[in-house]
Parts: sequence; structure tokens; C-alpha cells
Amino acid sequence: MGTRFIATKECVHANELYKQKLVEGTENDTTVIKRTLGMPARAIANPLTEKILEIEKQGGGYEDLKTLISGSANRKYIYEGDDENGFGWAGQVMGLIKDSPTVAELFGRIINEAEEIRTKWGR
Ligand SMILES: Cc1cc2nc3c(=O)[nH]c(=O)nc-3n(C[C@H](O)[C@H](O)[C@H](O)COP(=O)(O)O)c2cc1C
Repeated sequence: MGTRFIATKECVHANELYKQKLVEGTENDTTVIKRTLGMPARAIANPLTEKILEIEKQGGGYEDLKTLISGSANRKYIYEGDDENGFGWAGQVMGLIKDSPTVAELFGRIINEAEEIRTKWGR
């Protein structure tokens, strides 16, 4: 849900690049970083996540990674759309996101889909 709500008209603080990646990418464009630190988290695959994964593969620890996985690097992506020095969180749901609707429209869809599922299960 966090990922889905970034790609909405009201999420004005997210850079256009972040939203565009969420809309255009599939689940295969995500990757899991920080696994070796025991804190796995999914992000949009990009040059920085590649660098992070390479350091993890080489046996690097928290000290080697802390700047790259920092909130500051995250904010560079969110606010500035910096795809080289920043990273953006995203769940595998990214593969299901095809547009940037308004929150009202999105809630309408979620309610309709929930109703459809309830009807189906009720049969
Ligand atoms: C808006 C947002 C903020 C997130 N913030 C963090 C965070 O601060 N630290 C972290 O390790 N993971 C963070 N994540 C990544 C999640 O831990 C998780 O790996 C990712 O959302 C995929 O899981 P999901 O499909 O269950 O959402 C965040 C994800 C989203 C969408």
C-alpha cells in the first residue's frame, strides 16, 4: 500500500522519476538490499542498489554500507529523482501499478475490488 500510494496525484513530494519507475517497471525491476545485515528490504533496482549488492556480495558490513543505505540516499531519490546516488523503496506490487490516479479514485478501485472478491468468495 505504501508503494501504491506514492504513485498518486496527491503524492506531490515524490519526484516524477520515482512515480514513473513505479508505473513503468515490473516486479522484476525491484531488488532486495540489506539482506546480509539481517534487515532485508525491497527497493527499485538501480545503479546504487547494484553497488550496495556488490558490497554485500564482497562481504562488506554495516560500516561499508551505512552511507549508501542511509535516509539521506533515500531522500535523494524521493525528492530529487537521483537515480545514481539515491534509491527508492518499492514492494513487488510495483508490477501491478499502471497509473497515477487520485487517492479518491484509488480508494474507489480498492473498494470495488474488495467487493468483487467478497462476492466471489460468498458464492
Ligand atoms: C514508503 C515506503 C517506505 C519504506 N521505508 C523503509 C525503511 O525506512 N526501511 C526499510 O528497511 N525498508 C523500508 N521500506 C521497504 C519495506 O521494508 C519492504 O521491503 C518493501 O516495501 C517491500 O515489501 P512489501 O511488498 O511488503 O511492501 C519502505 C517501503 C515503502 C513503500
